[in-house]
Amino acid sequence: MIENNTGKKLFIKSYGCQMNVYDSNKMIDLLNPLGYTETKNMEEADMVVLNTCHIREKAAEKVYSELGRIRELKNLRKSQGKEMLITVAGCVSQAEGDEIFIRAPYVDIVVGPQSYQKLPELMAQVSRSKKTVLDLDFPTISKFDSLPESLSIQGFSAFLTIQEGCDKFCKFCCVPYTRGAEYSRSLSEIYREALSLVNQGALEITLLGQNVTAYHGLDYNNEEITIADLIKHIAKIPRLKRIRYSTSHPNDMMEDLIELHSTETKLMPYLHLPVQSGSDKILKEMNRKHTAQRYLDLIDQYRKASPDILFSSDFIVGYPGETEKDFEETLELIRNVRFSMGYSFKYSPRPGTPAAMETQVPDDVKTERLVRIQALLSTQEEETKQDLIGKTCSVMFEKKGKYPGQIHGKNQYGQATCAIGSEDQIGKILNVKVEKIIGTTLSGTIERMD
Ligand code: 5AD
Ligand code: SF4
Repeated sequence: MIENNTGKKLFIKSYGCQMNVYDSNKMIDLLNPLGYTETKNMEEADMVVLNTCHIREKAAEKVYSELGRIRELKNLRKSQGKEMLITVAGCVSQAEGDEIFIRAPYVDIVVGPQSYQKLPELMAQVSRSKKTVLDLDFPTISKFDSLPESLSIQGFSAFLTIQEGCDKFCKFCCVPYTRGAEYSRSLSEIYREALSLVNQGALEITLLGQNVTAYHGLDYNNEEITIADLIKHIAKIPRLKRIRYSTSHPNDMMEDLIELHSTETKLMPYLHLPVQSGSDKILKEMNRKHTAQRYLDLIDQYRKASPDILFSSDFIVGYPGETEKDFEETLELIRNVRFSMGYSFKYSPRPGTPAAMETQVPDDVKTERLVRIQALLSTQEEETKQDLIGKTCSVMFEKKGKYPGQIHGKNQYGQATCAIGSEDQIGKILNVKVEKIIGTTLSGTIERMD
């Protein structure tokens, strides 16, 4: 990041998914030339950005209560003759729009996830007119064209957005409304950004997209390529050691991508593949357009290509119409697959989405199912970790551990792993023999490389 000396401070808080973390980093890069550097202390911030997420219940309410607290800081700074610009960005902005200015009139800027590249311009408008501004456009020119290339990366792992938006319209989901239609960046743009991330020290890149496997960007000849083609290109960067992608959709999983898991050693053997439910009736209701069997077949295909691959998934319990039998089918699917991790949520009606209009499952039933699904998923998480005891994992060490002499990193499955090691081993990928599990972290001994 270019240093500047005008001394303005930016506080940015990211909610929700990795795409928001990526967007927040882009906003930091965007405001750096205007004299802003990041602070972790909101009180000293000249600009506060809440980069919000709308995916689950009470998202907007949480933002409003956070805004209430920020208002006090803004007033305090005002009494000291200092300014504090408040920006609400992300999916809550897109969903709430003007309402934010009505409920929180001290907010200066409301900007949607597809137009935050205009932040500098919007800030100039606020300072010129002393009025609030709202920008919720889905511009025809990609926001990526106007964003700075350099990215502040933390550690050795970086995110790179290759695709945004979604045309699938699952009936529970607000993403198609807040993030807009599907859009894929071109190979040249992505490759340039990947090079820049590697030059800044990234050893691992996670390719991001709401529907990353729907990627269909253009190559150097203006021909459409798949995510597998894209990965093959990026894998050629010598200093890049690990590639991941998230989030995938079962309907977009293509043969070439699955096949690549058997040949491309830089592609990590871990996949987050949301299924949402194990009941065909509920999958149909959700407009998922795949069956439970299709999901299980995909898991099999992946395991054939990459026998040690581990899977995680997302599950929604208590979707409108979900009976005990439907829920049992979800538990059965989980038992069939054995996930290394699972994220489960009570269905929460998102305003404006079709499922919100249906008759709702009572909350106590949702809670009871959530407890059961989480118990099964955490047993599987624990078991898949136990299975690794005595085995060798490849660990990318990223930082010092909690205790002196310990270093900490991530194995090929993305699981936190620690070992006794020296600081000069941070930034290296080393083999570790796993010996035990401490809390949720794997712990082992670094094997000598002869
Ligand atoms: N209610 C509960 N969970 C939801 N998700 C998305 N929308 C909703 C909703 N309305 C979950 C899905 C998705 C994950 C990111 O969030 O499981 O995969
Ligand atoms: Fe939402 Fe479904 Fe699109 Fe995923 S595929 S972002 S759950 S609409």
